[in-house]
Formats: sequence, structure tokens, C-alpha cells
Amino acid sequence: MPEETLSITDNRTATSYTIPIEHGAIRAMDLRQIKTSPEDFGLMTYDPAFMNTACCQSRITYIDGDKGILLYRGYPIEQLAEHCTYLEVAYLLLYGELPTAAQLEEWAQAITHHTMLHENTKRIIEAFRHDAHPMGVLASAVAALSTFYPEAKNVHDPAVRRLQILRLLGKIPTIAAYAYRHSLGYPYVYPDNDLSYTENFMNMLWRMAEPKFQPNRTLARALDVLFILHADHEQNCSTNAMRSIGSSLADPYLTMAGAIAALSGPLHGGANEAVLRMLNEIGSKDNIPAFIKKVKAGECKLMGFGHRVYKNYDPRARIIKQIAEEVFEVTGRNPLIDIARELEKIALEDEYFVKRKLYPNVDFYSGIIYQAMGFRPEMFTVLFAIGRTAGWLAQWQEMLEDPAQKIARPRQLYLGHARRDFVPMEQRAVAELVR
Ligand code: SDX
Repeated sequence: MPEETLSITDNRTATSYTIPIEHGAIRAMDLRQIKTSPEDFGLMTYDPAFMNTACCQSRITYIDGDKGILLYRGYPIEQLAEHCTYLEVAYLLLYGELPTAAQLEEWAQAITHHTMLHENTKRIIEAFRHDAHPMGVLASAVAALSTFYPEAKNVHDPAVRRLQILRLLGKIPTIAAYAYRHSLGYPYVYPDNDLSYTENFMNMLWRMAEPKFQPNRTLARALDVLFILHADHEQNCSTNAMRSIGSSLADPYLTMAGAIAALSGPLHGGANEAVLRMLNEIGSKDNIPAFIKKVKAGECKLMGFGHRVYKNYDPRARIIKQIAEEVFEVTGRNPLIDIARELEKIALEDEYFVKRKLYPNVDFYSGIIYQAMGFRPEMFTVLFAIGRTAGWLAQWQEMLEDPAQKIARPRQLYLGHARRDFVPMEQRAVAELVR
């Protein structure tokens, strides 16, 4: 059995080094011994966007990008989507095992107990214009929760952490619903604790004058499964933000506000909104060839396609595609699904996409379902954030409990000016602006 080591020879000094390999990786710090002189800082790795860098050891989510496999704590996403509720999966992500019936009941009740918001939060939300993007409202309101729960900064206390986790899971749907109601000028609807987690979210979104909201079970189940599919995805951009901000021991509210900000970008969670705009811009199947031509010319991206890890079909996109038909039986067919299906078919047969292993990702079909349910595109990424809250918190907690973790502080390769002296104003030539 070959030794689990790497032999490196530094040709600058003809010195050889043996670096241990563990879990298919070497420790970057083991490279620092490779120097040209005692004063030399030693070798670093250069990896913009962390294309090939593991920032942590994790036991939460496993993705096999080539095979299109996604496991939460070892369980296939397909089985969890079929058999679980979102709160059941949230428990699994956070505590590592599927809950017993008693544990799940206690967990759901505890979260339900925390769905209410401090009344001042309403005034924070009301400070926004009606057309404020709800991701900006969500990030701001979640950050504001930090000021209502100052004890949350005691992040190393498991009991304090659990209480904040319950609060965030309980309150994120309420904030999302309040942002939605504010954008329409509707009064807020308070939580109804008789309803399940997702049914209550629908109640806070859509109850009008009726005394009791009657959720459509099919739509509630579809939304709950969508929350499961979005719950975690190992070290994605927003989770990396959650871990990095949390590593300074910031409280979980301000930390999660940063994760929400990262998710809002169109290359990340904001893609589901961008897909809807793209499909509306294409307008009909006849226009697909011309659009594909623009993509291949580099004029725009096929939003909802491609992934840093998946080089095969995103298993979540496959499940979402199935959910679409169930939702349409209730809401009526969203014609955009036909354009999306044709777009997928053409792209998957085109060399440009095949060569780059670009497949539909989680965002390609989700927006079509959300729109059919009655959500406006601006709300799509908010729905992504509700599901991802469980994963962000699980990853944050794992980071805090990991003895190997310290405050995140990457290095850089400095290519700027060497030391130079100050130049008085009268001696400064008009320098060409560096573009
Ligand atoms: C999410 O990380 C996660 O796990 C994220 C996520 C999660 O659950 O947290 O899965 C959620 O963010 C899904 C991704 C949503 N974003 C989009 O759908 C936006 C469109 N996709 C692309 O922007 C892109 O595919 C990324 C951002 C998703 C991945 O980008 P990478 O890994 O940095 O790849 P790249 O940009 O270097 O692309 C490699 C090549 C390039 O072509 P060449 O320079 O080799 O000629 O593929 C091309 C890219 O131009 N390419 C695309 C494309 N995606 C990549 N070309 C057209 N359309 C696209 N969508």
C-alpha cells in the first residue's frame, strides 16, 4: 500500500519534502516549510474563488458533482424529499440524526413558539419603500434581530445557540411574509400556531379577511419539499460567508444577514429570479435558437445552468421538475415551463454546454413553480433563504464546535508597489488613471 504522502522537490534549493496526505488533501500549512532561506515566509497556495481549496472538515452534506449525488448526513436528497418535512430535515442537518416522533414534536413546537416578531420589527420593515427588493428587507430585518437578543453573542454556549437557532428558524418565514405584505400594502398577518411550519408561512402571506386560512395541502407540501431541496449544499458562497463571518464570533443574526447578502447575487441564489426574467425575455420557443446563439457568443449566461460542483444534472432540479406538474394541477400550467423544457433539451444537445458540462441547477425550474404559486420574481430568492436557514445554521454551529477553526483570515500574493516615499502635491504629475 503506497504511503499516504506527497514527495515534493523544490528545484530552487534541490531540497525534498514529504507532505502527509489526509482525506485526499494536504495541509496548506505543511507547504510553509518549503523555503529558499530562513527569512523566506515559505510557500502558500494561490486559489482565487477557492476552486480547489477545502476550508473545513464537515459531516453535514456530501455532493458527488460527477454523479449528481446529494446526501444530507448520508441520506439521499430524493428519499428526504419524499418522506420528510422541512423541520425534520432541519433537525437532521443541525443534530446529525433523524428525530424520533417525540423529538420532532418538541422541535416543531419549540420553533412554532418563536414565530412572532418584536413589534418594533414591523416599523423597520415599514421604513422601506413598497418596491424595496425583499432580499434587502430580509437581510436588514435579520440583522436587526441582533439588537433584540444581545445574549446571542455568547455563541460558545450551546443553550444560547439553540435558542437563537429556534428563533431564526421560527422568525425567518414571518419576516419574509411581512416583507411580502408590506410590498403590497397589506396588513401583516400574525402566525397561526395551529398550522404546520409551511402552512403558517402561507397563512402569513395570503390570509385576507377570512377568519382562518385554509392552506392548499398540495401547494403546502410542494413548498415544504422546495425548502428541503434548498436546505443545505456544503460550502457554497453564502455558507462560506456564514462560516467566515461567524468565525469572528459575531452573533448568528448579523452573521446570517451576511449569508443572505451573499445569496442575493445572480450567480448564486438570485439566479432563480434571473431565470424567470430570462424566460420572459425569450418569450417563445421560436426565440430559443437566437438566445442560445447569444449565450454561446458570451453575450449572456443561460441562467439556472451550470454549477461549480455539479458536472452532471443537479438532483434537486430533477425533483423540482417533478413537483412542477403537481403544482400546476392546482394552479394551472405555467407556460414558461414549456420554454424551459425546450431550452434544456436544446442546451443539453449543444456542444457548447456539453463540453463545459453545463446542466440545469436548482434555480432553473424553481422560479416557474414559485410564479405559478403566485409569488413575484423578487420573492424567489427569499424562499431560497428560508430553506437555506437550516443549512447556514448547521454549518455555523459545526464551525464553532470545530477545534481546528479560528477566525478566517486568508493570505494574499502582494503584487503592488514596493515601499515608496510620500509625494507633495506640487510634485505630483498628472498620472494616467489606471483603468
Ligand atoms: C446556486 O455552490 C452552490 O452549491 C450553489 C447552489 C447552492 O445550493 O448553494 O447550488 C445554488 O448558486 C446554483 C447556481 C445558480 N447560478 C446560476 O444559475 C447562474 C448561471 N451559472 C453560472 O454563472 C455558473 O455556472 C456558476 C456561477 C453557477 C458556476 O460558475 P463557475 O463554476 O465559476 O464556472 P465558470 O463561470 O468558470 O464557467 C466555466 C465555463 C465558462 O466558459 P469558458 O470561459 O470556459 O469558455 O462555463 C461557462 C463559462 O462562461 N458557463 C456558462 C454558464 N455557466 C458557466 N455559460 C453560459 N451559461 C451559463 N450558465
